[in-house]
Amino acid sequence: MKIAIAGGTGTVGRHIVDVARERGHGVVVLARSAGVDLTTGAGLAPALAGVDAVVDAANVNAIDRKTAERFFTGTSRVLLAAEREAGVRHHVLLSIVGIDRIPYAYYQAKLAQEGVVAAGGVPSTILRATQFHEFAGQMAGRLRVAGLQLAARMRTQPIAAREVAEHLVVLAEGEPRGRARDLAGPREEQLAELIRRLVRAEGRRGPVLPVSLPMRGMAEMRAGAALPGPDAELARQSFAEWLAER
Ligand SMILES: NC(=O)c1ccc[n+]([C@@H]2O[C@H](COP(=O)([O-])OP(=O)(O)OC[C@H]3O[C@@H](n4cnc5c(N)ncnc54)[C@H](OP(=O)(O)O)[C@@H]3O)[C@@H](O)[C@H]2O)c1
Repeated sequence: MKIAIAGGTGTVGRHIVDVARERGHGVVVLARSAGVDLTTGAGLAPALAGVDAVVDAANVNAIDRKTAERFFTGTSRVLLAAEREAGVRHHVLLSIVGIDRIPYAYYQAKLAQEGVVAAGGVPSTILRATQFHEFAGQMAGRLRVAGLQLAARMRTQPIAAREVAEHLVVLAEGEPRGRARDLAGPREEQLAELIRRLVRAEGRRGPVLPVSLPMRGMAEMRAGAALPGPDAELARQSFAEWLAER
């Protein structure tokens, strides 16, 4: 098969590229650094020639709803229009567990993106996954203030990005199925504790201060709204194993 991976240079995207190649597929990367801009569609039509399935793992680092929603719904519309034109048979979107329960601006934008994909005229599959193990590092980076490391409180059941990638490629190989079963890591963790362990593993000694972030949606995340339900599929690698392997 020929699979195009939107965001194929990102945290999960580069694993999707590796897994797809390992499974013998032809791979096209859709990212600005590969000459394709999904906000404008520049470079997209030639990149989709002969593509059977598209996996969308593109992302924007925005916490305000307007910017996030403009990116996620806008890039999906551009991508789906080009896919219809190119005769792509299957669109696979990576989304996030619990986004319909949590009024966090970025999650509301992802929910709007799911709506665009479901109505997008290309047979689709949406996979909601929990936070990646890498998420602790992404949050730690954003919460370093004047040499002080803050650690957001949140209940999470994190998963290896590599395992999310494996699921996405298998889904892309199969028939479109609407919503796939939610996917989560093997055990529940406290995000603030993961950040502390990551910071220590990187050899940083200073205090790591747990904080309750005030943004909309964070109270729900502290209460467990981002955790998977009982029907979710569970992956293998724990945060501790992932950290030890780095
Ligand atoms: N982080 C998590 O814990 C988590 C959990 C579950 C689901 N997700 C979802 O997984 C997806 C990927 O997240 P991530 O953290 O792996 O992303 P990331 O590391 O931030 O990577 C973003 C990717 O999007 C590409 N991109 C950004 N703007 C673009 C544009 N205008 N045109 C084309 N490509 C563009 C980037 O490449 P260029 O910069 O070269 O354009 C890069 O490849 C997101 O939808 C996110 O919501 C994330």
